[in-house]
Amino acid sequence: MRKKIIAGNWKMNKTLEEGMGLVSEISNMLKDEYKGSAKALIIPPFIHLNALGKLMADNSKLGLGAQNCSNHKSGAYTGEVSTEMLKSVGCEYVIIGHSERREYFNEHNAWLAQKVDAALASGLTPIYCCGETLAEREGNKHFEVLETQVSEGLFHLSASDMEQVVIAYEPVWAIGTGKTASTAQAQEIHAFIRGLIAAKYGADLAQNITIQYGGSVKPENAAELFAAADIDGALVGGAALQSRSFVDIIKAMA
Ligand code: PGA
Repeated sequence: MRKKIIAGNWKMNKTLEEGMGLVSEISNMLKDEYKGSAKALIIPPFIHLNALGKLMADNSKLGLGAQNCSNHKSGAYTGEVSTEMLKSVGCEYVIIGHSERREYFNEHNAWLAQKVDAALASGLTPIYCCGETLAEREGNKHFEVLETQVSEGLFHLSASDMEQVVIAYEPVWAIGTGKTASTAQAQEIHAFIRGLIAAKYGADLAQNITIQYGGSVKPENAAELFAAADIDGALVGGAALQSRSFVDIIKAMA
């Protein structure tokens, strides 16, 4: 069964106090207003994970995720955070290979494959991000780029590990720009990614993988995106920083 997941990636935003206020508001609004079955994830900066995890513990509609992790288990890696540490503060999910990590921190597929392994070894669900730049789309290279990102980051996995993975398709040109991929464009890529997985792991496994869309998702476009056959949720940036817009996106998922 595909899980429906709406994940709020806060990026490098919110002090602890602001974050606690936001999570309390989201939690209360979901209790009052949301009867659907989607899981909503709060993905704050590392330093807030412990406190926010405790704050949301009484709300089963909410889950906790991290924005990144180390590919190493432990040791002399100053500034890094391991998957075991994330697990120990209640994380269930970790974003791996967000385009900002790929672009500004030189994270590449081989390294991301190791992070996926580290997450799975600790019992975390990796949210593996992929997506093409504007130049790649205009050069008609998007299918090729996505195939490389998905196969190099994930296709070393056994079928039982692959079943645990969530994929987020985030066209780089739609992130934080206000430009959303049209529903048809997003659906085309989601179906393409599912096809790659079907060719490697079989149709049954491909049908059960959750593929989220990300890139300027807002309350105004969420319902249309979620109605597409292969879109199973969203990875939300800007609109996850306000309770009203984040909850309205969650409510767009039945
Ligand atoms: P955005 O970010 O919703 O602000 O476009 C999405 C993301 O980067 O995950």
